[in-house]
Amino acid sequence: MSSSLATVAYIGATILFVLSLGGLSNQTTALRGNLYGMVGMTLAVLATVFGPQVTAAGLPWIIGAMVIGGGIGLYAARTVQMTQMPELVALMHSMVGLAAMLVGFATFIDPTASAGFEGAAKTIHELEIYIGIFIGAVTFAGSVIAFGKLSGRVSGSPVLLPGRHWLNLAGLLVVIYFGGVFMQAHDVQAGMLPVIVMTIVALLFGVHMVMAIGGADMPVVVSMLNSYSGWAAAATGFMLSNDLLIVVGALVGSSGAILSYIMCNAMNRSFISVIAGGFGTTSTPKPAAGGAAQPAGEVTPVTALETADLLRDAKSVIIVPGYGMAVAQAQHTVFEITKFLREKGVNVRFGIHPVAGRMPGHMNVLLAEAKVPYDIVFEMDELNEDFPDTDVTMVIGANDIVNPSAQDDPSSPIAGMPVLEVWKAKTSIVMKRSMASGYAGVDNPLFYKDNNRMLFGDAKKMLDEVLTALKA
Ligand code: TAP
Repeated sequence: MSSSLATVAYIGATILFVLSLGGLSNQTTALRGNLYGMVGMTLAVLATVFGPQVTAAGLPWIIGAMVIGGGIGLYAARTVQMTQMPELVALMHSMVGLAAMLVGFATFIDPTASAGFEGAAKTIHELEIYIGIFIGAVTFAGSVIAFGKLSGRVSGSPVLLPGRHWLNLAGLLVVIYFGGVFMQAHDVQAGMLPVIVMTIVALLFGVHMVMAIGGADMPVVVSMLNSYSGWAAAATGFMLSNDLLIVVGALVGSSGAILSYIMCNAMNRSFISVIAGGFGTTSTPKPAAGGAAQPAGEVTPVTALETADLLRDAKSVIIVPGYGMAVAQAQHTVFEITKFLREKGVNVRFGIHPVAGRMPGHMNVLLAEAKVPYDIVFEMDELNEDFPDTDVTMVIGANDIVNPSAQDDPSSPIAGMPVLEVWKAKTSIVMKRSMASGYAGVDNPLFYKDNNRMLFGDAKKMLDEVLTALKA
């Protein structure tokens, strides 16, 4: 493929990626957005593999790597459970970081990669390598720790080292100092030590940054690492002089940053302190994620039959799904119940919290899969004022996102996080298996309120029973 044809293909792929992002911003166009992305990526890969930068001798290597990588990706995508998606995403971000790091080292060592750079161009090229390896190492280490936290392999509690901000600052100064040494090095041998020291500091910084973040604040970390992985890809693009990689990396980096900002707003956290690490942490240590909460009162259990009666008598119902609905895969039964109630004239709506589940948009994906109409699915802000006029709220496997202590208890680890005010409805019904806490590991006073009922059991099993009772 000639270089001008490759450029045309790159421009086409760029346009498709922009259209893809535009499509993904709305549920009705999301499918089309995904298709644009897939076609764009195919075009980008073909134009790169058969483009002018790849020699015939390199082709078998590339095809071999693609077959192995594609095989692993296909296997992972087919076998991963929906509830494990955030871990998989974190792992993929770590791969982008690792790739940026390795490309950086390879570009630095390979004499042909630096040939032809003189004067200012040489300085810029070396800066690209140094910064590229730095971003890659931070992304890699941070994403590996995020993977550990999300999968429960690493404790969700924040690890706060004494003087952690000073440690970060010291690390940054070391990176800047060795950056100067690296730029002045005349050969690979002299430049190797500073770049290795910087890489170690960057890896430690990535670990430190994510370790310092508490379980409840992980959503912001997931989107932030998403952004970092974009900048790591852009850095790789600079090192390889690949324009498409620069554009795609910048698109991912900036959209991830916007998402992090939205997440921070949704959780009432400061964007700057997220980047510095260790935010949203209180002096009171949190219990481990998912651990049993201390009982703090009496709860009123109900049966599936009583739940069906409450729903049948209601004129308006708001359903609030959470992580437990994803675990139980109860979304299809939820829709069956919704259909039944709507046919009986009940106004049924869904209230979605921005951090419900374990990844951005988790609940929207599940509801779309079950074919719940988009026009009855609402964001938290669109619906929060309607709870006092609602007869029944059904909380399905949600916990932290409906916890009133976020508003009432300033010492709570989730203090200040906006929540769905389900307790303001005439009756709220919480479906979960036990009294265990949610991801943030905090007790939920909602369970003990007079107008709250607890329907204990697996969400899918209980909802099946509710549906049978409704139809009986
Ligand atoms: P959680 O607070 O984690 O609560 C989920 C509840 O579901 C648990 O209390 C659990 O109680 C219940 N559950 C689990 N399996 C169930 C099943 N099979 N049937 C019925 N119930 C089941 O979830 P949430 O309310 O969706 O809040 C999300 C939390 O995750 C927030 O703290 C958020 O910060 C965090 N987080 C979010 C993200 C993103 S981006 N969304 C990423 C990482 C972390 P039982 O064990 O008693 O059943």
